Amino acid sequence: MSSIFCSILLSGVFLVFGSLFLYLSVDYIFILFFMEFPLIVTNFKAYDEGFGEDAVRMAKIHEKVSKETGVVIGVAVSAIDLKAIVEAVSIPVFVQHIDPITPGRGTGSVLPEAVKDIGAYGTLLNHSEKRLSREVLLASIKRAKEVGLRHIVCAESADEAEGFLEFEPEMLAVEPPELIGGDISVSTANPEIIDRTVEKIGRGKVIVGAGIKDARDVKIAFELGASGILLASGVMKSADPEAVLRDLVEGIKQAG
Ligand code: G3P
Repeated sequence: MSSIFCSILLSGVFLVFGSLFLYLSVDYIFILFFMEFPLIVTNFKAYDEGFGEDAVRMAKIHEKVSKETGVVIGVAVSAIDLKAIVEAVSIPVFVQHIDPITPGRGTGSVLPEAVKDIGAYGTLLNHSEKRLSREVLLASIKRAKEVGLRHIVCAESADEAEGFLEFEPEMLAVEPPELIGGDISVSTANPEIIDRTVEKIGRGKVIVGAGIKDARDVKIAFELGASGILLASGVMKSADPEAVLRDLVEGIKQAG
């Protein structure tokens, strides 16, 4: 009896993993399950192109480039579009923010349990456009860990990033606010901030953003020790987001 049960169980396991391998390449499965970096994350922000059906279409473009190039490309989306996007793609989907509440009272808040239940991979925290006090940030990181959400904590300077280390964040993204949404990238205008952040935080944890647009920006950031890129307008406002994403991946490859 028990051997029949075991055979049924084993067939089920083979069926599930077999289908998964057919759908995704072996390399891609390895990257998704065992590696976090190098990582590119596009923040959809509140752009016209970043909500509703457009957001799902945009997420699918990210998935396509990620699968074809083998580089992990995630998206950071609003809580409103989270479910539709999680259901449509198999790349890491971050929500742009969570509130440090527990189930119960909390009108208008983004409940971490709900985000996890939908199937999000993680959350951004303390983005320059959604700043938190240190107390709220610490509480949010704790809640993210409790429910099992990966998290990228944003900082505006190398010193601020260093000051967050005591909260034991998983990933730290440094973005000089004056360069966000602009034409000149952090890699060109302020490579020192990348250098200093990597020096203070160490390799394998630092993500860089602000004005990143192309392979050259990515290459400089990675050569300075960054492990990931966080960007928005370069992809969201482009007439050809797929071409931009492929170019960004090229930058990672050029940096070796
Ligand atoms: O979250 C990413 C971000 O703030 C950078 O935006 O438009 O300068 O790439 P952008």
